[in-house]
Amino acid sequence: MRSGFNPGTLGATRLTDVDPQVEVRQDATWSLRGRGPTLVAVGVYLLASVVGVVVGLLGEPSSDPAVENEFQELGGGTGWTSFVGMILVTVLGWAVLGTVLFRRLGRLRPWRVEIHNWIAILALGLALFHGLELMALGDFRGYLSGWAAVLLMFVLFVHGWWRSFWVRRYGLRTWRIVHWEVAVGALLFTTLHVVLIDEGLGHVRF
Ligand code: HEM
Ligand code: HEM
Repeated sequence: MRSGFNPGTLGATRLTDVDPQVEVRQDATWSLRGRGPTLVAVGVYLLASVVGVVVGLLGEPSSDPAVENEFQELGGGTGWTSFVGMILVTVLGWAVLGTVLFRRLGRLRPWRVEIHNWIAILALGLALFHGLELMALGDFRGYLSGWAAVLLMFVLFVHGWWRSFWVRRYGLRTWRIVHWEVAVGALLFTTLHVVLIDEGLGHVRF
């Protein structure tokens, strides 16, 4: 995996990918990881958070605990979409699986990592909406495991978005190990969150 990867020859702002096809795209003069895209990503997080709180405050929990109203369904739906997004992000980020998945997609293939990044950004936005909407609605089940997963997703954003910085500092091998560890941690906390809520144990806060 290390072969063909040499940040030193690429200058301070550029970092090629493990997938040689991505090197071709990285030769282009534009990037989806500059200051503008960073502002878009942070904007997605802020907007999702604010809208989540507002929607939650506008709603009321259902009077019948056995029946969910549309505000609770929206909370559940965004949680599931975010979870599916995280699984997709893991598959796409994983060079081996992601490349196989994109093999037949020709022109889309060099975009694998960017698609991985932007689905991750949307998944975190949805998770923020989901958690804040449900808390504003007065539902505090499973919030510790939920926020632990959100925190790790944010760590993945900082770690992946500024990858060239971390790779120069600690090396590609360490970067990959850390990204994998944090990703698995985020997936484990999410799974725990879903299982606790599904089993009706979410009232234990965790
Ligand atoms: C930000 C902190 C979070 C809080 C406060 C929170 C809170 C909740 C609550 C109260 C429910 C129950 C909703 C219902 O049954 O209608 C729930 C369900 C769910 N949450 Fe979260 N959550 C958070 C983060 C996350 C994250 C990061 C994910 C995934 C990426 C996630 C995925 C889910 C899923 C899939 C469900 C549905 C579980 C089921 O229906 O069995 N949550 N969450
Ligand atoms: C916006 C947030 C994220 C950014 C910017 C980001 C960025 C990256 C980048 C640049 C790669 C390298 C891909 C390659 O060289 O082939 C990568 C790989 C990966 N990402 Fe992310 N990532 C983010 C979030 C996530 C999340 C949420 C997960 C899973 C929960 C995840 C899981 C992975 C995995 C498993 C890999 C493969 C690591 C390897 O074997 O090299 N990432 N990510």
